[in-house]
Amino acid sequence: MLTDSFGRTATDLRVSLTDRCNLRCSYCMPAEGLDWLPGPDLLTDDELLRIVGLAVTRLGITEVRFTGGEPLLRRGLAGIVARVAALKPRPGISLTTNGIGLARLAGPLREAGLDRINVSLDTLTPSVFKLLARRDRLGDVIAGLAAAAAAGLAPVKVNAVLMRGVNDHETVPLLRFCLERDYELRFIEQMPLDAQHGWRRAEMVTADEILAALSAEFALTADDPAERGSAPAEAYLVDGGPARVGVIGSVTRPFCGACDRIRLTADGQLRNCLFARTENDLRAPLRAGASDDELVAIWQRCIRAKLPGHGINDPGFLQPSRPMSAIGG
Ligand code: 5AD
Ligand code: SF4
Repeated sequence: MLTDSFGRTATDLRVSLTDRCNLRCSYCMPAEGLDWLPGPDLLTDDELLRIVGLAVTRLGITEVRFTGGEPLLRRGLAGIVARVAALKPRPGISLTTNGIGLARLAGPLREAGLDRINVSLDTLTPSVFKLLARRDRLGDVIAGLAAAAAAGLAPVKVNAVLMRGVNDHETVPLLRFCLERDYELRFIEQMPLDAQHGWRRAEMVTADEILAALSAEFALTADDPAERGSAPAEAYLVDGGPARVGVIGSVTRPFCGACDRIRLTADGQLRNCLFARTENDLRAPLRAGASDDELVAIWQRCIRAKLPGHGINDPGFLQPSRPMSAIGG
């Protein structure tokens, strides 16, 4: 088991499959993009499967979520999903995507064994999308969402990040859009993880502000907190339910005490936190012929070093050098 020195056990593995992306969301990347990881640095499918296989069979990982960059850009994604689905015990398999390309891939991914999906959608206005993501692709995302629902990846979850003066007037329209289609919407507070270090606390739309905006239009009642477990979203029933909306107050309502996550980057580095300032290299030992036991020991070293919290609210907080797009959500 991957238990840390504060008694938390990691059961949820987030696997970044590529650091590349076809959008340039301003809270994530600069307009010109980033220097992508060189191809030979990326884990091959076989290397990835060896590592994920150990995590599932030896280390108690029960949920595998694929992220990016944009994971749909990884060639052979459906094949990777199918191989993870064949592991015993079979983990839950989920994907966090920007939705571009999902219209074509939702069906094949579902057939390969994908269980759940989260799609990022920050605006319903094409001009705002173009400003925020710096690409004119809103239509592709909307089509991708519909394809995911049609493929049976229900409930489709939608992630939205609000930015002051950019898309924060869309809090209510986003929820209406999701309610009409039975998508489960979660708002995420903007975190200091962008490559260009442009995060400003005053520009972050807080969980309190989001709840106030929603409460002007909907009756929100807190869902049973016992149901929350390690889920970062605080869930609210909308107008009595059963529809729900979530608010992830990563910064103002940190949930690190219940964290059950661990992360693997596309270049084979293990991270015990989004905000970790150190990593444990699995790729070099793997390529040098390490045994399963040696690799398992690296996982255990990584989890033992996990800090109690992300420290965003501490005066000495330093952003990790690796940006969100190269860590995975
Ligand atoms: N703060 C909060 N959420 C972010 N995401 C990407 N960057 C940030 C950030 N700085 C979101 C994406 C996606 C998920 C992986 O995380 O919008 O939904
Ligand atoms: Fe791409 Fe996601 Fe970053 Fe947007 S937030 S640029 S979709 S990796």
